[in-house]
Amino acid sequence: MTGKTLQLGEQKMLCQSGATVLDALLRELVEINHSCKQGVCQSCLSRSLDVAPPVSVHSMA
Ligand code: FES
Repeated sequence: MTGKTLQLGEQKMLCQSGATVLDALLRELVEINHSCKQGVCQSCLSRSLDVAPPVSVHSMA
């Protein structure tokens, strides 16, 4: 299983390759506003506090 490790406070979670950060957060039952799940509505817009997100962060590919 490949992907990136996300850290939200003390909680670490895996964002699998090909999945969005939103997918990873929802899989871990993190409560986050969302609607379209396609990068259109921006209701899930979040901020990375320590590293720049990858360019493909808004992509489903
Ligand atoms: S749910 Fe993230 S952009 Fe719509």
